[in-house]
Amino acid sequence: MFVPYDNYHMVVITYLDKKFFGNNQQILLEQLEIQGFNIPYSCRAGICGICKLALIAGRVRKLTEHLIYRDNIILCCSCIPESDINLIEF
Ligand code: FES
Repeated sequence: MFVPYDNYHMVVITYLDKKFFGNNQQILLEQLEIQGFNIPYSCRAGICGICKLALIAGRVRKLTEHLIYRDNIILCCSCIPESDINLIEF
């Protein structure tokens, strides 16, 4: 799913020390899946919390508000990158 947001731009996504180019339009979970990462998920709607990852650098745009979503813990099914980001498992 693409979420039109500002001007399209590329970002560098680092997950578990592997880097790839992503963008600021597509759901982060989908971008990780396209790269072959198997991220656990269930609802894909920001409800179950299964897809949570720790954001250790950079910014994401939240698409839903939820209690699990706090500090540097993100629900990757419900956000898009805003900048280069660095993620690890939660
Ligand atoms: S898959 Fe359920 S919150 Fe992301």
